[in-house]
Amino acid sequence: MSAALHSDIDLIPQVSGHLIGSGGKRFRPLLLLASAALCGYEGERRYPLAAVIEFIHTSTLLHDDVIDNADMRRGRAAANHVWGNAASVLVGDFLYSEAFRLMTEHGDMEIVKLLARATNHMAGGEVFQLMKKGDPEITEADHLRIIEKKTSHLISAACAVGGLLAGAPEGHIAALGRFGLDLGFAFQIVDDALDYTASADEFGKAIGKDLSEGKMTLPLIRTLQTCPAAERQTIVGIIRDADRDEASLKAVFAIVRRGDGIPYALNMARTYIAAGKKQLAFFPDSLPRRDLMLLADYVATRKF
Ligand code: IPE
Ligand code: IPE
Ligand code: MG
Ligand code: MG
Repeated sequence: MSAALHSDIDLIPQVSGHLIGSGGKRFRPLLLLASAALCGYEGERRYPLAAVIEFIHTSTLLHDDVIDNADMRRGRAAANHVWGNAASVLVGDFLYSEAFRLMTEHGDMEIVKLLARATNHMAGGEVFQLMKKGDPEITEADHLRIIEKKTSHLISAACAVGGLLAGAPEGHIAALGRFGLDLGFAFQIVDDALDYTASADEFGKAIGKDLSEGKMTLPLIRTLQTCPAAERQTIVGIIRDADRDEASLKAVFAIVRRGDGIPYALNMARTYIAAGKKQLAFFPDSLPRRDLMLLADYVATRKF
């Protein structure tokens, strides 16, 4: 990753180094490497392609923090907060194009096709989410469609690229893709629950962001369906009102915390994880298969 970030235009290594240097879980490249290992690939191309997946992810984080007005990312000031929106968007574009440059150098047409489709889904998902912002009537189905597009497809592609690198049979690549898709749903649903339950220090991002941005996620969508009418009115008011004041935000946050939305979301995440693990059941037992199962279980228990 650092090799690909050399540029004589100082702002590029500054902004990207700030975000990449703060780590992150590197969950997607890990999935790619474990999936490649599962299918018996140990060649050198796995490294640049693991970087490609992380670059795509990193570029979407730079853009996402502009869109979501984030102050904090990976325990540090968000790049948009330090260098402004224009720098974040442009360096995000640079990383995104760097990913495609590396992919055409080290990938093949199937890999390029898969990642082009995945990034296209991500952009579409973000636009769809923008359309639904501030809409308290969003359905669970539409919300899951947003998650599938903005998060699941990239995680799915990370797994499938591992199989593609290995030249694995089509059925194996498809199973890895379905495993990643299920994991992606669980990953985002857990992330949305953590936005209500985590400690900001541990999570590395501010808490309560979705609510304060008028974003309906599963804990809130579920709470709206099951809470008393008076509470529903308070919630709908807060989501529709663009100037949400601190006190009403706190009130809604407390309603969600004591309702059944969080356990409901976590339960759904666990269902996705179980379904994902089943996709890999036909592979014979091996260390990489055990790694992938552990990574799947980790999604449900992560705290950051
Ligand atoms: C954050 O992704 C965005 C979501 C899809 C929820 P990660 O949780 O993988 O972020 P880092 O890379 O570990 O910081
Ligand atoms: C992260 O989405 C970016 C993408 C999945 C494209 P969110 O906005 O839901 O995640 P955080 O909480 O900022 O990491
Ligand atoms: Mg976002
Ligand atoms: Mg965000």
